[in-house]
Amino acid sequence: MKIVIIGGTGRIGSKLANKLLQLGHEVLAASPTTGVNTVTRGGLEKALNGAQVVVDVSNSPSFEGKVAMEFFQASGRNLLAAEASAGVKHHVALSIVGTDRPNSSDYFHAKLAQEKLVIESGIPYSILHSTQFFEFTTAIVQSGTVGQEVHIPTAIFQPIAADDVVSALADIALSAPLNSTVEVAGPVRLPMDEFIDIFFKATNDSRQLVPDKHALYFGAQVNDQSLIPGINPRIGKLKFEKWISTQYEKI
Ligand SMILES: NC(=O)c1ccc[n+]([C@@H]2O[C@H](COP(=O)([O-])OP(=O)(O)OC[C@H]3O[C@@H](n4cnc5c(N)ncnc54)[C@H](OP(=O)(O)O)[C@@H]3O)[C@@H](O)[C@H]2O)c1
Repeated sequence: MKIVIIGGTGRIGSKLANKLLQLGHEVLAASPTTGVNTVTRGGLEKALNGAQVVVDVSNSPSFEGKVAMEFFQASGRNLLAAEASAGVKHHVALSIVGTDRPNSSDYFHAKLAQEKLVIESGIPYSILHSTQFFEFTTAIVQSGTVGQEVHIPTAIFQPIAADDVVSALADIALSAPLNSTVEVAGPVRLPMDEFIDIFFKATNDSRQLVPDKHALYFGAQVNDQSLIPGINPRIGKLKFEKWISTQYEKI
């Protein structure tokens, strides 16, 4: 089966491409790097020729709200129109747990707009809502950094390893379209600042962690309901401490 991965050179996309190749599928890792651009439409028609499944794991060049909204709307419209012409049988999109909750960030609004285009496209689809990737930890730390202090929200958090997201996506891509949204999350639920404390201790990071109920998460106020899944999500296997030990050596 030919599977096109839009964003196939990215963090999730490259792992997913390897996994599906190993399972014996014809995989096209599509991105500007490989000559396929969903915003300009360059290379898109040719890439989709003969594809049965498209998995969209592309990302906006920035988390800034206006940039992200323009990216996901233009990319989504062009991609779904090209898929309709090519007769694609299943569109799979990766989005984020909480895009539909009140007071979410502008980036989440852009992801929600992407999801709306998918749902209204008429193409059979599956949307996977994932919680934050362990691999996103440094970006969270960066966004909360003020000088030597790192201000992190205390809201409940349930992050997941990218490998576990990839397993869920591969399973969904190789199954019949769900025509609905399902969730996947990590195995442990803790306040976000406690995850960062574990990360700092394991990596010997001496920056001052400041648990802060009012700290913004990428510009949005978050509470204990903002970022965790609803009932019966898929659950990833890998624990945060184990993941850290495979990625970082103690200095
Ligand atoms: N970070 C998280 O914790 C998290 C949690 C849940 C869901 N997600 C979602 O997961 C998705 C994948 O994230 P990621 O971290 O794997 O992204 P990433 O590493 O930033 O990769 C983005 C991919 O998108 C491609 N891309 C950019 N512009 C494109 C265009 N115009 N046309 C086609 N492809 C384009 C890039 O191609 P080049 O390499 O050629 O530039 C790259 O392959 C995102 O949609 C994100 O919203 C993220």
